[in-house]
Parts: sequence; C-alpha cells; structure tokens
Amino acid sequence: MNKVNVAIVGATGAVGTKILEKLLERDFPVQSIKLLASKRSAGTEITAGGQTYIVEETVPESFEGVDIAFFSAGGSISEKFAAEAVKRGTVVIDNTSAFRMVENIPLVVPEVNPEALNNHTGIIANPNCSTIQMVTALQPVKEKYGLSRIIVSTYQAVSGAGAEAIDELNNQSQQFEGRVSNEAAILPSASAEKHYPIAFNAIPQIDAFDASGYTLEELKMMNETKKIFGDYDMSVTATCVRLPIVTGHSESVYIEIDTEEVTVEELRASMASASGVVIQDDPGNQLYPMPLFAEGKDEVFVGRIRKDPKQRGGFHMWIVSDNLLKGAALNSVQIAEKLIQQ
Ligand code: A2P
Repeated sequence: MNKVNVAIVGATGAVGTKILEKLLERDFPVQSIKLLASKRSAGTEITAGGQTYIVEETVPESFEGVDIAFFSAGGSISEKFAAEAVKRGTVVIDNTSAFRMVENIPLVVPEVNPEALNNHTGIIANPNCSTIQMVTALQPVKEKYGLSRIIVSTYQAVSGAGAEAIDELNNQSQQFEGRVSNEAAILPSASAEKHYPIAFNAIPQIDAFDASGYTLEELKMMNETKKIFGDYDMSVTATCVRLPIVTGHSESVYIEIDTEEVTVEELRASMASASGVVIQDDPGNQLYPMPLFAEGKDEVFVGRIRKDPKQRGGFHMWIVSDNLLKGAALNSVQIAEKLIQQ
C-alpha cells in the first residue's frame, strides 16, 4: 500500500488528538504526519507513538505535499482552508458541519455508504457524531427489513462540544465540594446568548435553534441520516440533549420497519451481523450499553431492543458509542483507509 503524507488540522483539540492516536494505532500507511492548529499552539510538542511532533500554525502553504488532511478545528476553519488544501492536491476529510449537506460532497460512514466515495472532488464530509453511531447500527436493519421512520432522543457527552466544554464540566463538578462556582461560558454553545451549567443538569439544546424550533444538532441528525441512507422520504426526527458525561453519546431510538412480523431476536441478529456493531442486550443479567464502558472502544453498542406494544413494525432500542472515536476520529481514519484501498 502506498504511504501517504497526512495533516491534522485541529491537532490539539478533542478530536484531533484522537485522529493522531487512531492513525498510529491502526498502522495507517503514513509517510509523514503534520500537526496543525492555531497560531497559539505553534511550537507545542505532542508526543505519541514514541515520537514527538511540533505543532504548526495552519496557513494555506501548510498543505503543500499533503495527500490527506483531516480537519477538526471548527466549521469556519474548514471554510477558510479546505479549498486551499484541495487546490494543492490534498484530499480533505472534514469533521465539521461545513460541507456535510453540500450536494456533491459525499457524507460517508464506511460501513453504510462507501460507494459515495467514488464521486468525491477533493472534500469528503464526516457526519455528525450522533448520526454516525445511529446509522451504523441501523444499516443492517434497513437493508434487511426496510426502514421508514426513526424517532431519536440523544444523551450527549460534553466532549462533543470540544476540550473547553470538558474543562467546563470538570470545573463545575467541583462545586460539589463547595470549591468553585458553577459559572457557565461554553454550554449549551459558546456563541449562545445564555449559558447554563452542565454539571448536575440536562440541557435540551445542542447548537443554536432554527426557526422550526429544532436545534441545528437535531436538524443535522435528521438531514444527514437521509443523505447517508440515500432515502429522502424516510421520516426522521430528533431531540438532542447534553448531559454531564465526558465521553460517550447514548441514544434512545424508536424505529418503524417495513416488514411485519419481525421478532426481536431477528432484529437483534441482523444488527449483530454488522461490522463494528456489538449487541449488549440481556436485561435478565442487567446487560445493556453505557457510555462509561464505551469510552475508548471503537464499536457501536446496542441493547434494550424491544417491540413497541402497539405499533406493528415498531421497535425501541438504546445505542451507545464513543463520540470521539466512531463518532469522529475513527470514522475519519476509516474513510481515509477506504480511499487508499480504492
Ligand atoms: P488551538 O489549540 O491552537 O486553539 P476543540 O474541538 O477541542 O475545541 O479543538 C479545536 C481545535 O481547533 C484545536 O486544535 C484548536 O487549536 C484548533 N483551532 C482553533 N482555531 C484555529 C485556527 N484559527 N486555525 C487552526 N486551528 C484552530
């Protein structure tokens, strides 16, 4: 396999650091790795896999000679630099929402729609973390039984809002010991007019509100799911909630499938056969997925699978995954691996 020159934009951030970890851990065919961030971090040393890397400021020239660049520094940075990278022959794998719904830009989960990679023109979008884990688990169900409706409620970790949000939760949690105030500045979103404490709380707002009453995070889940599945008639609604959890998103998912008379065992078996999905579903032994135990793991965990008492073809389940791994860094690296294979 040809070795490639890689850059990570946002290398000091919550997702960027995991991308470096995954590249090293998976024996990705790396020729060189360039770590890029803001001017503030230029010169910072990051040691990983026994090697020390020096972080550089991101400038257009950073992409000279780079084959694949992973972007995870926020949408505005992607908007500023992705085209510069593509102009220099770099393929961009973008973790932000900047390009996800652009018509000709593929939005890819390798287990679900790898064929979308065939038509890329330099930028490939990595979906939203909550969307990735849900579609990975539901893809085999859709394929085997048809899927017409999804209603999802999320229980999302603060690391999805970046390293500053993790700090905010950690600081506020210390109020428990009476040491500091619960002052909030980052959540529900740094640019919001009001901020609420996340420690000991549940915030039903992730990102800004749209005129429809949905948040942008909810709309991402709804729109991205349809694009990835290639089914714009599917009914998808979402309620996204931030919880005081550092890592690991959980989702209560209700689905309606097209095939009647499918049993819980059959549905469970279809998901168990999917690559990257692990079933943890044994209520008698209190076995179900939890974010605390999904942290650091690559898989998507599914449990609590049960039939809706009334609706034919209706099922409920609980889906958990590490939002920084399959939800972000791992999926991006898997996209790059698929590209190289092609
Ligand atoms: P820096 O550490 O220099 O600010 P997170 O998602 O955890 O909040 O991390 C955001 C990432 O985006 C960090 O690596 C951060 O680097 C990077 N970043 C922020 N602003 C810029 C910028 N203007 N140019 C490049 N990278 C940036």
